[in-house]
Amino acid sequence: MSTGYTAVTDTADIDHDIAGQTVLVTGGAGFIGSHIARALVDDNEVRILDDLSTGEERKVPTGAGLYAGDLLDTELLKEAMDEVDLVFHQAGLVSVPASVEQPAESNRINVAGTLAVFDAAREVDARVVLASSVAIFGSPETIPIDETHPTEPTSPYATDKLAIDHYARVYNRLYDLETVALRYFNVYGPGQSGGDYAGVIKTFMDQAAANDPLTVEGDGSQTRDFIHVADVVRANLAAATTDHSGEAFNIGTGESVTIRELADTIVEVSGSTGGVVHIDPRPADIDRSQCDTTKSREQLGFEASIDLETGLADLFDAEH
Ligand SMILES: NC(=O)c1ccc[n+]([C@@H]2O[C@H](COP(=O)([O-])OP(=O)(O)OC[C@H]3O[C@@H](n4cnc5c(N)ncnc54)[C@H](O)[C@@H]3O)[C@@H](O)[C@H]2O)c1
Repeated sequence: MSTGYTAVTDTADIDHDIAGQTVLVTGGAGFIGSHIARALVDDNEVRILDDLSTGEERKVPTGAGLYAGDLLDTELLKEAMDEVDLVFHQAGLVSVPASVEQPAESNRINVAGTLAVFDAAREVDARVVLASSVAIFGSPETIPIDETHPTEPTSPYATDKLAIDHYARVYNRLYDLETVALRYFNVYGPGQSGGDYAGVIKTFMDQAAANDPLTVEGDGSQTRDFIHVADVVRANLAAATTDHSGEAFNIGTGESVTIRELADTIVEVSGSTGGVVHIDPRPADIDRSQCDTTKSREQLGFEASIDLETGLADLFDAEH
């Protein structure tokens, strides 16, 4: 794969030409947002708006200003947005099971919260790069998944993401707000939150570190496109400067692996002695996923640079 990028996994070392700007990262105390903030904080004024619900203050990079509170606190949002040039909107209720439990709360944070960010950004004429998700496509009819693939969300979370993905274009067309929606595939890397609903890589890494067996759901033939968070940061930086605002882009590597292959690779890079076991399949699990990278490559000039084995080995070294 030819990328033009150095395959760094530390987001502080990513080359970019965004400097002297005032940048707001919503959700900047969370996994992806804190890495975006870290990439920009040396050359820009970086502010973070986060209610610390799943985010943590220790993830806020040194030099960034924390506005602790809810996206829907109008006064706080206005203060955080004052004179901002660029917004990376990452805040959200990200747990699919939580959205199934509380669909109205999921809608409040993910949809009403995003419209509040768009409206505040309109006041200061800031560009908004927002976190959409591969979840909007549901179970894919064809792979790789390109931007024109039909959408069929299967959870309140995915429905919220589809709504804001559309709103981003509607705000662009109606109000000239510069928006770029990035539909992340499965993101992994340092600082990913733990807990019951953590991504499968975080779960497998923790099991491997304890020399416990890695628990593969079903036969492990399901495929996913895992993208390292440093590559997701690069996609955000490309979206911050692209001429193609008012567009949505699928953000993955273009490669897919089976969950069984993933488990075997993690056993190998970690040296775990626990092996792999198969447990009951998850109900209604999506059986395959892979990103079509054509549009993001041609229009954003973005291509993932970190192969899975390198990313996993670095992650294991960094966190265990
Ligand atoms: N991690 C992935 O694989 C993945 C895939 C697709 C899309 N996404 C999207 O990327 C974004 C970032 O996800 P993440 O993995 O970093 O999750 P995360 O939970 O680490 O980050 C979300 C942040 O938003 C904050 N937040 C939640 N509700 C808030 C509110 N009402 N007001 C202010 N802050 C609030 C949380 O405290 C947290 O810091 C989310 O929008 C998510 O839906 C993530």
